[in-house]
Amino acid sequence: MTSFPKIKNLTILGSTGSIGVQTLQVVEKSDGLFNVLYLTTNKNIDLLAEQIAKFNPKGVVITDYGSYLDFKSKYNFQIETYYGEEGLAYVASAEEVDLVVSALVGFSGVVPTISALESGKNVALANKETLVAAGKYISELAKKKSAKIIAIDSEHNAIIQCLLGEEITRVEKIILTASGGPFLNSSPGSLESVKVSEALAHPRWSMGKKISIDSATLMNKGFEVIEAHWLFDLNPEQIQVVIHPESVVHSLVQFVDGSIKAQLGPQDMRIPISFALNYPNRLRYDFPRLDLLSITTLNFYEPNTEKFPCLRMAYDALKLGGNATAILNAANETAVSNFLEGKISFAKIPKCISYALEKVEHNVNPSFDEIIEIDKITRKITQNFIDKLN
Ligand SMILES: NC(=O)c1ccc[n+]([C@@H]2O[C@H](COP(=O)([O-])OP(=O)(O)OC[C@H]3O[C@@H](n4cnc5c(N)ncnc54)[C@H](OP(=O)(O)O)[C@@H]3O)[C@@H](O)[C@H]2O)c1
Repeated sequence: MTSFPKIKNLTILGSTGSIGVQTLQVVEKSDGLFNVLYLTTNKNIDLLAEQIAKFNPKGVVITDYGSYLDFKSKYNFQIETYYGEEGLAYVASAEEVDLVVSALVGFSGVVPTISALESGKNVALANKETLVAAGKYISELAKKKSAKIIAIDSEHNAIIQCLLGEEITRVEKIILTASGGPFLNSSPGSLESVKVSEALAHPRWSMGKKISIDSATLMNKGFEVIEAHWLFDLNPEQIQVVIHPESVVHSLVQFVDGSIKAQLGPQDMRIPISFALNYPNRLRYDFPRLDLLSITTLNFYEPNTEKFPCLRMAYDALKLGGNATAILNAANETAVSNFLEGKISFAKIPKCISYALEKVEHNVNPSFDEIIEIDKITRKITQNFIDKLN
């Protein structure tokens, strides 16, 4: 006899973003197995209002103060309405919540994800920057609280699927695939003059702006190496990155006997999201299927870290340890937002990060408060560097 899984109460941090919206699409297709308790946005109050009308949550959080005031004056929903970081911490840890989907972008996801784990909630994690900035603290906290972190990122989600029924000690290495982004075949010299719209035009995935730029610089893959280190407790040497432009194989695990397991699928984030929401169960969904007969070739190449130094910098920061990955994250976030505002060229992004990694003091064993502090200091130092460039 089939036993029916219990209905899970969800908080979706960042429900108006790319992952948040797709999470709600999965919820809609899940036959009432999820109850949407809390939703959050930074500024997109109109989309939030549509989501409230459709999913009838108990409450919402709006982090931007001006948008919070606009929401209060424009809409008259009879639901709990919170503002700012305190609001995020509350909805991430509220008693009735079973699973928190962490889909905020950048460092803004760190504190709410910690609130969820501190209260013992399982977390479906899209916000990889949380593990990049504070991986040691977060993974120790999750262990202490017996809370599960189930990665939404398609690569790590693929690894989790390949590891089902396996012992992590039997893993020789994991292989993370990367599409290579929009500039895979561009000459290094042409990167100086790329337009923001070109950098945002990812060839395989439609995503939020920040991760799209991170994918174009390959910093996204560097972040995923760091994320994998903390999720699977592997050394940097056991985490290989290969360019796979077709994005059909989402990642692979090589075991000690030489056998390799891979996970394949269409480029649809709703598949890893549904896996993370239903974990450890698997549900039937009508998402597109991969037609193997339509695939003629699958290519795999070594990444060019001369042309894309961000990937190398991420490995170096991981090997250095301590606060180096928090510095990497903060400098990258500052550089990417300056690029999106047209203040620096695409090719300057790695230069800003490398400057910050050199200038900001390295600390081998930072406390969580020191990580928060180093994030602020790094942003300031990186911004000063950028202001001087202009
Ligand atoms: N998109 C993908 O396919 C994909 C795949 C794998 C992993 N990820 C990871 O998932 C995370 C989210 O990515 P995304 O593409 O969904 O991002 P996104 O589309 O930019 O959405 C981010 C969400 O966070 C909110 N937000 C932005 N700044 C905030 C702040 N300072 N405080 C609180 N909330 C804030 C946004 O609100 P507004 O709507 O008001 O801006 C939105 O709801 C990232 O860490 C990314 O690396 C994404």
